[in-house]
Amino acid sequence: MSKTTDPSRWGDATKLVRGGLHRSPHGETSEALFLNSGFVYDQPETAERRFAGEDDGYVYGRYGNPTVTMFEERLALLEGAEACYALASGMASVFGALACQLKAGDHLIASRALFGSCYQVVTSILPRFGIRTTLVDGTDLAAWKKALESETKCVFLETPSNPGLEVLDLEAICRLAKSKGANVVVDNIFATPILQRPLSYGADVVVYSGTKHMDGQGRVLGGAIVSSRKFKDELLKPFLRHTGPSISPFNAWVLLKGLETMKLRVEAQSVAAQTIAEALAGLPGVTRVLYPHLDTHPQSKLARKQMRLGGTMVTFEIAGGKSKAFDVLRHLEIIDISNNLGDAKSLMTHPASTTHRNIGAEARATMGISDGMLRLSVGLEDTADLISDLKQAIAA
Ligand SMILES: Cc1ncc(COP(=O)(O)O)c(C=O)c1O
Repeated sequence: MSKTTDPSRWGDATKLVRGGLHRSPHGETSEALFLNSGFVYDQPETAERRFAGEDDGYVYGRYGNPTVTMFEERLALLEGAEACYALASGMASVFGALACQLKAGDHLIASRALFGSCYQVVTSILPRFGIRTTLVDGTDLAAWKKALESETKCVFLETPSNPGLEVLDLEAICRLAKSKGANVVVDNIFATPILQRPLSYGADVVVYSGTKHMDGQGRVLGGAIVSSRKFKDELLKPFLRHTGPSISPFNAWVLLKGLETMKLRVEAQSVAAQTIAEALAGLPGVTRVLYPHLDTHPQSKLARKQMRLGGTMVTFEIAGGKSKAFDVLRHLEIIDISNNLGDAKSLMTHPASTTHRNIGAEARATMGISDGMLRLSVGLEDTADLISDLKQAIAA
């Protein structure tokens, strides 16, 4: 196949605009929205064949939908993966990717710097079903090595992590996990497939919240699991079709359209985030700035190797703890106070009192989340305006 007829040889921008496109007989320009829950059959035998898996057609919205398929194929193509399964949210994807492969008696290892809900899934929900879990300092390869045992079925990690932007060595962790036959599941939500490709370092499964950069404009919830065809057919489908966390066709359509501009947005937001991180580093009252491609980041060398740009998120600490951090939030004039991220609008949150409130002070301390920490999701506004807003809010 030539470069133009083989979609796997297209560049990322072409994949994001044209990948997975299946036009209906009407020849619509934009992808069609099939807003339907069920499907009809010309003959009872057709229905029987579809339920027997002898015919690829659709049977029911919980099993699949043509708009959802277009989104799945586009994302799988971008990621260079065999398969993708779209879901209702990022958390449905995290839980589905882990629960579909684990059973009572299995062992799971996770990096300890996790998004609050991921931490709850690993430390309290999965253990209720007899799954043993161990949390490790993800930056410490010796800790991963020590924690791996013969019952370890799966390794789960977030890089960069939310909100501390800890960067983990994908290649080394995948190699260690593989030596014990464990599957590696990577939450790639902060980096996005535009900046980092965990499968190319040996990961087995990548999970996304479509709610973030894929939508990128604060409209819908969604999620996706990217994997091999075998993982999708043998583990994901039997688990997810019967438990039902399906994405709505409308949300999949919004995400499909969001993918078309994701590369432009993520690159522009990352360039702005780097400039903002550098500006914040020199401000009085700012005691620490965490940004993967900043020289002062503890894993900056690794981050430059793994991530094409430093990402859209900047985390920083303010002297004076929670009350001073709240003062900064109160004085923002352009940036909004919000725990969402990856949006065209710049958003800021205080993780200790929001996304990481329920995990408790002790767990926050092990993740390095202080009371003076603020997490900024850089949007698409003028960078100079955002820097002015941050300067006046921090000085106020
Ligand atoms: C790292 C990480 N994983 C998972 C999620 C969950 O995504 P969703 O809100 O779409 O369920 C989030 C959401 O903030 C996140 O930041």
